[in-house]
Amino acid sequence: MTKYLYCAIRIQKKFCLPYLKELFKETSTAITLVIPAGEKSKTTNQAEIIWQKLIEYGATRQSLLINLGGGMITDIGAFVATLFKRGMPYIHIPTTLLAMTDAAIGGKNAVNILSYKNQAGTFSFPVCTYVDTEFLKTLSENELKNGFAEMLKHGIIYDKNYFMQLAGNGNFTSEDAIRSSVEIKNEIVKKDKYDRTERKILNFGHTIGHAVESMMAAGGNEISHGVAVAAGMICESYMAVSKKMLSQEEFSIIESAIRKYFSFNFTFTYDGIEKFLWADKKNTSGQLKFSLPEKTGKCSYDISVEKSLVINAINKFSIPEISNAG
Ligand SMILES: NC(=O)c1ccc[n+]([C@@H]2O[C@H](COP(=O)([O-])OP(=O)(O)OC[C@H]3O[C@@H](n4cnc5c(N)ncnc54)[C@H](O)[C@@H]3O)[C@@H](O)[C@H]2O)c1
Ligand SMILES: [Zn+2]
Repeated sequence: MTKYLYCAIRIQKKFCLPYLKELFKETSTAITLVIPAGEKSKTTNQAEIIWQKLIEYGATRQSLLINLGGGMITDIGAFVATLFKRGMPYIHIPTTLLAMTDAAIGGKNAVNILSYKNQAGTFSFPVCTYVDTEFLKTLSENELKNGFAEMLKHGIIYDKNYFMQLAGNGNFTSEDAIRSSVEIKNEIVKKDKYDRTERKILNFGHTIGHAVESMMAAGGNEISHGVAVAAGMICESYMAVSKKMLSQEEFSIIESAIRKYFSFNFTFTYDGIEKFLWADKKNTSGQLKFSLPEKTGKCSYDISVEKSLVINAINKFSIPEISNAG
C-alpha cells in the first residue's frame, strides 16, 4: 500500500495541511514531517534527518513524498526524494507565489553547502505539481513580491502580451497570471531541461540581482530576492539598450513598470558588487555574461558585456529618468 508523507514547515502544517487533507481524503492518514523554516534548513544535514525519518517510518520506493511549502521545501523535498533508495516519487504543492511560478517548476533541486547556495542537487521531476491560489491568502506582501518579480521576468523574456497585461493590472495572484508564468517556465525548460542553452534566459535580472543581494547581505542589510531581481532587470535591460538590442522606448516601458511596483531604498556601485558578480558561475572565461532582452518578449543568453557598460547600467539604475510615483 502506498504510504503518503507530507514534508512541510510548521506554518504550512497549521494553515495548509488541514485544507489539503480535506481536499485529498486519501492523504488523511499521511505521516507529516515538519522541518524548521528558512533557507538555513536547505542543507545536507537536514536532508539526512529527513532520510532517517523516512526509514523510521518505513517509507519505500512505492511511498509518495508530498512537498508542501515554499521553494525551500520543494528544493530539499525533491532532493531527498530523488536520492532516497535511488528515487521515490514525489509531488510538489507550492505554497508561495515564488514556488508556484518558479521553484516548483522545471525539475531543478538543490541544497546549500557552507554559505554557498544550491551547491549539491539533481535534475528530477515530480509526478505532478498542484498549484492552488488558496495558499496565497496567508502570504506576506514581501513574499508575494518575490514571486511577482519572477512573473514580470517571464513576460519580459518570453511573452510581451503577458508582460503588458501583468504590468498594467498588477494582478499577480490571479489564476490566469500564475498559469501563464507556469506555462512559460515549462515551455522554456522543455527546450533545454539541463540548463545548457535556452534555459539560461531565465537568468535575466539575476546576474546583477544575485550580486546585489549578496552584497547587501554581506553588509548586514538583507534585501528580498524579488527586489534584488527587480533592480537587476532594470540594469540588465539598460545593458541591452547599450548593446543596441533593446530600444530606448521598450527600456522605458520595462523600467517604469518595475518601478511602479518595486521601490528601492538602496543604491550600489560596480565596485561594491564586483566580487559577487565574478563569483557567478556563468562568468567563466574572464568575461561578464548576461541574459538580455532583444525586445520585450524575447531574450538572448551568453551575451558578453564590457565593464564600462555594466557601470553605465548601474548609474542608470541609481539615477532613473522617471519618478518613482509610477
Ligand atoms: N529549484 C528551482 O528551480 C528554484 C527556483 C527559484 C528558487 N528556488 C529556491 O526557492 C527558495 C525560495 O523559495 P521561497 O521564496 O518560496 O522561500 P521559502 O520556502 O523559504 O518560503 C518563504 C517564507 O514563506 C513562508 N510561507 C510559505 N508558504 C506560506 C503560506 N502559504 N502562508 C504564509 N507563509 C508561508 C515560509 O515559512 C517562509 O518563511 C530558495 O531556496 C531558492 O533557492 C529554487
Ligand atoms: Zn529568482
